[in-house]
Parts: sequence; structure tokens; C-alpha cells
Amino acid sequence: MPESALMRDNGPVNQADQDIPTSPEGGQPQDPRRSRLHPRVTSFRSRRGSLTAAQQASWDRQWPSIGADVSDNLLDTAEWFGREAPLILEIGSGTGTATAAMAKAEPHVNLIAVEVYRPGLAQLLQQIERDAIPNIRVLRGDAMDVLENMIGPESLTGVRVFFPDPWPKTRHHKRRLLQPPTFKLIASRLKTGGVLHVATDHAEYAEAIADAGNAEPLLTSLDWESPMTHERPVTKFEDKAHRVGSTITELIWGKIRA
Ligand SMILES: C[S@@+](CC[C@H](N)C(=O)[O-])C[C@H]1O[C@@H](n2cnc3c(N)ncnc32)[C@H](O)[C@@H]1O
Repeated sequence: MPESALMRDNGPVNQADQDIPTSPEGGQPQDPRRSRLHPRVTSFRSRRGSLTAAQQASWDRQWPSIGADVSDNLLDTAEWFGREAPLILEIGSGTGTATAAMAKAEPHVNLIAVEVYRPGLAQLLQQIERDAIPNIRVLRGDAMDVLENMIGPESLTGVRVFFPDPWPKTRHHKRRLLQPPTFKLIASRLKTGGVLHVATDHAEYAEAIADAGNAEPLLTSLDWESPMTHERPVTKFEDKAHRVGSTITELIWGKIRA
């Protein structure tokens, strides 16, 4: 684990807590600090939120060992977790309800949760501490940076994306996380035989996700024994979707070759 990534949390990371100007249409943020390999989608809203005193105390106790800001450094996951084990990345873990439940159900995996929203991560850190869950590490920042810079090719046994923000207005579709370039990047980071598991409550986004995933040549709908569970606990966001009667779509792909 690189020194810089293990530093104490002292403030904002990436754009998550900063006011980045957006274009008049409310589309792609105009952030001169960002220059990327391919046109970057910024899939999250800039949300502020403070921590309770108990959350801050839990954060301070745990962040130095199990939390890190997103950086440009390749992760040494064996060192960070203190063991070699199949690695699963959850993108947009929110408050971490599913993260914690799935980590407990799969003690043999190393699970990294990536989230930009600090209060969400704080809730997860509290649960990790309360339940003494040993196999979760948390990254704060943009998952695209994690995939591009912190995770090497053919490294991940699984990627989970549960209820990505649907950005329902047509002019905002470009902000959706799950678009063809993201599928390509995820596929490159998965090991052969690795699995991408997506769930959404948004019917039109589900179709777009299915089209993009099915078009990615390295992925195929899963028809072999999976190295990770597909049993997904109800997430906090999903709970709300159930209450308004939305249909949940589950999409699962496996990586077929390097
Ligand atoms: C609708 S919420 C769902 C949260 C959780 N998966 C659940 O089902 O309750 C989507 C989450 O993804 C996070 N998110 C969106 N884009 C992200 C990105 N590029 N990197 C990290 N987190 C992201 C948002 O901050 C938000 O918390």
C-alpha cells in the first residue's frame, strides 16, 4: 500500500466535496485539473454532508488502516488486506448496507468499496467496526480513477455496481457511469472468468446497460459457475425503489478471455 494512499483523511478528495463548475446544460463539469485517457464521465453529484461525532471518531480510528483516498498509485492489495484472496470491487457503495452483508457472507474474498460520498463511507466504517468485519477496505473518490490507475489489468474476481445513478434526463445521459468505455475498462480489470454484477431500478437505464454490456467483446452473459455470490442483499437505495413499486433489473456478465 503506497504511503500517500494510507494517509489520514484531511479533507476533500477529487471532486467529491468540491464545487466544480458545470456547463450551462448541467452536463460535463468543466474542470481544468482533469485530463484523461478518454472523455471522462462524472457520474456523481457533488453532495456535502457532515459526520456525527460518533462517525468521525470511528473514521479517525479506522481510516489510517482500512481507508484511503483515491490516488494515481497502483494498489498493493495483498499488503493492504494482509493476505492474498480473490478481489471484488464495489463501485458506489452508498451507505454500505450490501457491502457489509456480502463481505460477511464471503469471508474468503477481499472487498474494496469505492464511494465519493463521505457520510456514506462513514456509515460503512461504523458497521465494519461494530461487526468486526475484517475483509473490507474503502476508497474515497471516483471509481473511474480507481479502475484506471489503482487496479491493474486482469486483477479483479468481481465488480459490483448496485443502483448506479440513472441520470434520467436525456441531456444528462452522458453522465451515466455504465457506458461502453466503462464496460471496456471494467472488462480489462477483470480476470478471465471474473464477473460483473449490476442491479438497477431504472427500466430505460437497464436497457442501455444491457446493450453496452452485451456489446463488450470480453464479456458474455454468465453461463458457468461463478467465483462470487450473486445473492444480493437489499441495498438502502433499493429499499426506496421497492416502496414506489419499481422493477429491479439484475444484469450479470462473465469475462471470457484476456
Ligand atoms: C443511487 S446510489 C446507490 C448506493 C448503493 N449502491 C445502494 O444501492 O444503496 C449511487 C452511489 O454511487 C456513487 N457514485 C456515483 N458515481 C461514482 C463514482 N464514479 N465513483 C464512486 N462512487 C460513485 C454515488 O455517490 C452514490 O452514493
